[in-house]
Amino acid sequence: MLTLAHLSDLHMAVEPRGSQLLSKRGLGYINWLRKRKNIHRPEVLDALVRELKAQTFDHVAVTGDLVNFSLPDEYARARDWLATLGGPRDVTTMPGNHDVYVHGVEPMPAQFWGDYMRGDDGLDRFPFLRRRGDVALIALSTGMATGPFMATGRLGDRQLSRLSEILAQTPDAFRVVLIHHPPKSPLRRYLRRLVDASALRQVLIEQGAELLLHGHDHRSSVVLLDGPNGAKIPAVGVPSASAVAAHGEEGAAAYHLFKIDGAPKQWRCQMIARQRGADGTIREVDRKILV
Ligand SMILES: [Fe+2]
Repeated sequence: MLTLAHLSDLHMAVEPRGSQLLSKRGLGYINWLRKRKNIHRPEVLDALVRELKAQTFDHVAVTGDLVNFSLPDEYARARDWLATLGGPRDVTTMPGNHDVYVHGVEPMPAQFWGDYMRGDDGLDRFPFLRRRGDVALIALSTGMATGPFMATGRLGDRQLSRLSEILAQTPDAFRVVLIHHPPKSPLRRYLRRLVDASALRQVLIEQGAELLLHGHDHRSSVVLLDGPNGAKIPAVGVPSASAVAAHGEEGAAAYHLFKIDGAPKQWRCQMIARQRGADGTIREVDRKILV
């Protein structure tokens, strides 16, 4: 049995200054001061991680938007934070749109978090595969610089075809696809979408997967995607790990645990959701069998 913890969308921010504001960061900073600064709170993240560490788990997936403005000090702070969760062997991460917020920062996530974004083959490329017992963790990158008011993501043909190959090569594993942007979002926000979501869904229809985990929507959600021969693949979104309950209870900081066991064609996966309540305590809010 393997227990996988899932966190996302920390939005750890260092406020931009001077020439750093002469880009999309300027508008982002206004939004940060007006709204996000009061939503994404370091003390909320700290409390959630403290509570998570009291649980038993084998591996943690952090599905992007670790930082907010893609500033060097933010990447460094996020690297230190990753190290508090565990070593690179036991923690997997990948960029979201806020991790590649402006042009020119594309190499930065790998520069700071490379050890947490590398497959068992040791190569720096997405998607990458990490095999942990019967579980195959397959991480994709959707982070790309976009214009103001945009938060879209893209995989591109190269990642999609390699994803197809990896899924085809791991049919006996419990395959978990990790990605920042949801392949299908209940929120349907055009300017925040994964632009090649339909191509990703097509790969999943052809090759299958047992589970997909994502962030980006800052909400808890379970959407069933089509797999091969009528099979369904649960795609599970987790709220931001640092959010006070600014969107109502549903958006408050949370993490999910996935208890995976069984064997090929007889997998079992139980999901446990633990979330911050209005009084600041973290408690179980949902428990269900997904697979
Ligand atoms: Fe995002």
